Amino acid sequence: MMYDHFGRRLAMSALLLATLALSAPLFAQPPAQKPAPGPWMNTSLSPDERADLVIKAMTLDEKVALLHGVGMPTDDPVTPENAPSNRGVGYAVGVPRLGIPGIDMSDAAYGVRSSGVNGRYSTALPANVAAASSWDVDAAYEYGALIGRELRAQGFNMTLGGGANITREPRNGRTFEYLGEDPVLAGTLVARLIQGTQSAHVVSDLKHYALNDQESGRTAVDISISKRAARESDLLAFEIAVTKGHPSAVMCSYNRVNGDFACENNFLLNETLKQAWKFPGFVISDWGATHSTEKASAAGLDNEQPGDFFYNAKFKAAVEAGRISTAELDEHVHRILRSMFEAGVIDHPRQRSVIDPFAGFETARKIEEGGIVLLKNEKAALPLNAAKIKSIAVIGAHSDVGMISGGGSAQVDPIGGNAIMPPGEGATHWQDHIWFPSSPLKAIKARAPQATVSYDPGTDAAAAAEAAKKADVAIVFAYQWEAEGMDLPSMSLPEHQDDIVAAVAAANPHTIVVLETGSPVTMPWVEKPAAILEAWYSGSDGASAVGNILFGTVNPSGKLANTFPKSEADLPHPVVTMPPPASDHFDGPASPEQWAKGLPPFPVAYDEGVKVGYKWYDAEKKPVLFPFGFGLSYTTYAYSDLKVAEGDTVKVTFTLANTGARAGAEVAEVYAALPAAAQEPPKRLVGFAKVKLDSKQKQTVTVEVDKKYLSIFDEAKNDWSLLPGEYTILVGGSSQDLPLKTTVTLK
Ligand code: BGC
Repeated sequence: MMYDHFGRRLAMSALLLATLALSAPLFAQPPAQKPAPGPWMNTSLSPDERADLVIKAMTLDEKVALLHGVGMPTDDPVTPENAPSNRGVGYAVGVPRLGIPGIDMSDAAYGVRSSGVNGRYSTALPANVAAASSWDVDAAYEYGALIGRELRAQGFNMTLGGGANITREPRNGRTFEYLGEDPVLAGTLVARLIQGTQSAHVVSDLKHYALNDQESGRTAVDISISKRAARESDLLAFEIAVTKGHPSAVMCSYNRVNGDFACENNFLLNETLKQAWKFPGFVISDWGATHSTEKASAAGLDNEQPGDFFYNAKFKAAVEAGRISTAELDEHVHRILRSMFEAGVIDHPRQRSVIDPFAGFETARKIEEGGIVLLKNEKAALPLNAAKIKSIAVIGAHSDVGMISGGGSAQVDPIGGNAIMPPGEGATHWQDHIWFPSSPLKAIKARAPQATVSYDPGTDAAAAAEAAKKADVAIVFAYQWEAEGMDLPSMSLPEHQDDIVAAVAAANPHTIVVLETGSPVTMPWVEKPAAILEAWYSGSDGASAVGNILFGTVNPSGKLANTFPKSEADLPHPVVTMPPPASDHFDGPASPEQWAKGLPPFPVAYDEGVKVGYKWYDAEKKPVLFPFGFGLSYTTYAYSDLKVAEGDTVKVTFTLANTGARAGAEVAEVYAALPAAAQEPPKRLVGFAKVKLDSKQKQTVTVEVDKKYLSIFDEAKNDWSLLPGEYTILVGGSSQDLPLKTTVTLK
């Protein structure tokens, strides 16, 4: 028997393959799974009661079948097992005899993946990091709800979205899929995103649990970190997501943590997720991240994906031999079934329908408008006044035709294909740089109909400078592409774009830089342009959002979810630890034996501990380029009247006023400095609110701070602990601009 990279069985006779391929149309559209009239269909019972009733009726084989995948239907030929699937990346067969549908999974980080190959269309939302930069909990809900609706419409009933790893390593190739460097921000937003997805009766997911903070050698790396630092940083984001978002599933990650693979790590799965956080859902392995049967089962892994190396025949044999108890087996099954009942995928079977692409465009544009961050705006260079500008030079980054997107398993297929390819040749391939057909040039022309708008590709610095010199305003687009499976080689813009931006800005004092990146970048040219916008990976209608911000139809309100350091030398780890060749990646078909062993571990010590992002720069007193929480607006805000009251939560109340001439939305940020005895970094984010205000409008704002966010994780007690003492509460519009300050004594 042959196995491929993800543990899929490859052995099948040529005849069987041919027969299955020819009969594909017969299998392609499954009959709707009619719920069997078992007692578990009584909706007045709880999901737990209903799950137990199903378990009573199940055979051992049916139970084991629920614990693993049947390959990756996207790539695999049709088989009897995967035939009822929607041909996504994963499928678990359900219990057809009892009316329990299969779990039909699709990646959906910023939109539903692989719609092109399935002849469908998905909205691409702005990258998750853009949504994080909106600091908008309602937008996060809308983000998740749109994904949930489009999953169902395409025939799926489970998302594999919900990335919440904090940005410990900004060169991580998946930074765009995550929600920034702070656990309270990331946890709060992903909790709302999960709730949004579940509102569409879709099994939700939270990933990659945990400490999968670099992609280099991700299946081999062994992360070492203290329990306290882990609980107060990366795991806090997951704790908030689990306890406030109530996801159905948590995906354990590829890496090792303190010696054990995440998917067989008792500390992560049982001790923390299931016991401390009381997570009632199921743990699903990342694709090929399962390495054992008994050990993984005992540690708390409930479902192996996408194949069945360890959770099929071996699992059954272990149950029959008594090495895995029936109670342990039933617990895995219970967790899966109760989550399906709770998510509503049994009571509301998936049904294909046509999505509303126009509503999708509008949601994507609005979220992007709220997430774009205005980093610099000298002499009010922005917004542009279309009535006064006679000529605009648009330069660089294929801005005539499109805007870049993030790759890997998050990749959404663009309508019409990759915008930089000739028509008909733009199919999406793994690790292609995919540009969405959302043209900044067209968006700018539409907003400045009286101006002459030129385009220069920005590949030659002299030519770009020449184009800029001739125009009233130069708008230079610059990008950095990133994707799963690799880290960025550096924080610099690739392809000599630093030189292009510097040349354009030197040629025209009214130069605006628009960045399309998923991670912070260094900016050796930062002093030169008049204005800088960070637009991230901007989604299906990114160009309209950028146009609306450039011309002032929308007032920017995004704030950075990640610090932009001055230089890579300032990072906790100036260089990403690369795997030795033997631990780089599995090459060619792997056997269960090879898989069980895993690649040789290589160590990465997170000895900066809890000092992630701004906590590191604060503690180390390193000046940064743009701080966490920073973002400008076309109006101004004033903060006053800070009051703090203690009850079950700590209530932080203040007045926020829009003192400028335009309506806007301000992200008000609340930080706390703990008593010295806590030995924590100088401050931490403990709450925030995004407040819409008309020009000259004032509002009293109250942010309720969960006391856990003021606590430390006490390893001796193995629990959170609020140290008695004096806490300083700081409030303002950026981690480095906190005009309000008071103290409160907590006991
Ligand atoms: C990724 C997951 C993804 C899975 C299925 C893995 O390589 O790490 O995020 O959900 O593949 O595509």
